[in-house]
Amino acid sequence: MRLLQRLWRLSGLRQWVPAGSRLRRTLSSVKGQLRTESEAMLRKQICQVVLDHFEKQYSKELGEAWNSVREVLTTPQWWQYAVLLNKFNFSSAVENDLLSKGYRLLFPRTSPSFLQSLKCYITSTPGRFPAQKHRAGKLKEYYLLNAASVLAVLALKVEKGEKVLDMCAAPGGKSIATLQYALPGLLHCNEYDYLRSCWLKQTLESFIPESQMSLVTVSQLDGRQIGNLQLGGFDKVLVDAPCSNDRSWLFSSDSQRATLRLAQRKVLSAVQTQLLRSAIKVLRPGGSLVYSTCTLSKAENSDVITNILDSCSNVQPMDMQALASSASQEFALASGVQQHELLVLPEKGKAWGPMYISKLKKI
Ligand SMILES: C[S@@+](CC[C@H](N)C(=O)[O-])C[C@H]1O[C@@H](n2cnc3c(N)ncnc32)[C@H](O)[C@@H]1O
Repeated sequence: MRLLQRLWRLSGLRQWVPAGSRLRRTLSSVKGQLRTESEAMLRKQICQVVLDHFEKQYSKELGEAWNSVREVLTTPQWWQYAVLLNKFNFSSAVENDLLSKGYRLLFPRTSPSFLQSLKCYITSTPGRFPAQKHRAGKLKEYYLLNAASVLAVLALKVEKGEKVLDMCAAPGGKSIATLQYALPGLLHCNEYDYLRSCWLKQTLESFIPESQMSLVTVSQLDGRQIGNLQLGGFDKVLVDAPCSNDRSWLFSSDSQRATLRLAQRKVLSAVQTQLLRSAIKVLRPGGSLVYSTCTLSKAENSDVITNILDSCSNVQPMDMQALASSASQEFALASGVQQHELLVLPEKGKAWGPMYISKLKKI
């Protein structure tokens, strides 16, 4: 961090030093050295065990595409963050600031996915708009997120008045985006982990005004059990499942823990399948669910969905092609996936994802 600060200070100094002078050359060379050092520092933080594991698996599963995805995932300086405006505390000052900094709407007016209510701003330049701190009693004006998260919410297509379950909701990004998209009759947000459920409650309080809070309920249950508790009630369910989380696993600081997690990766597919079975139980016939993960792993994505389709006769896959075609301009989508799935691959300048999304309907 200190190296980065020094780099920043040096780049400011440069304008006062005459071009071509010895001092300018020395500054440039020091700057170059510092940049290499700081890049090496960032590289050092990558967990080699995880990278090796991914290298083996994803080069097989994604082929050529893995090389560019790996470059983005291992280069945090290229990462991008989208800004989702809060319609419940809309700030035209923030919107103007975003526009002046080169941000644009994720789905402009001309896009078939354009929505008046959901304003998500993106830019092709890496970096992060400053986050807003939580202040009790004060609504935030925006939420920073990976733009691919919005696709899961668009796929869910919540309609006004519907009963919606967000089964694995913390920290709450997709719950917030769902409420920006449409006002459901009920949004039930569930999170199993105690600390994360506190985080979820704080997010909800920071974005939803008192007047709309009656639409939102929160529970701290094992999503796998929900199906046995409330049969048949929901119109829509989002299963944003616990998964390998490729981006953060690559930067695990404890390689022993990372090795253990990699060894237990198979357990995740079983949990994901159980969560989906539970989601199918709580859906009313005709209702639909969206399954999403932030991993590239086929075992946690297509294989889980195929397993569900093969073993549950009361669900059918839903076509995602319309969403894929409107998303294809801003997102790099994997080719060769089936019609009921989308896989967002991070690419330089479109560093969104990884995100797998699939949609099923209960019949
Ligand atoms: C990918 S994160 C969800 C992110 C969230 N949807 C968002 O957009 O902010 C998955 C969440 O599932 C939670 N989780 C893990 N096992 C669960 C279970 N059995 N039931 C419900 N939630 C679970 C994890 O604690 C984690 O917070």
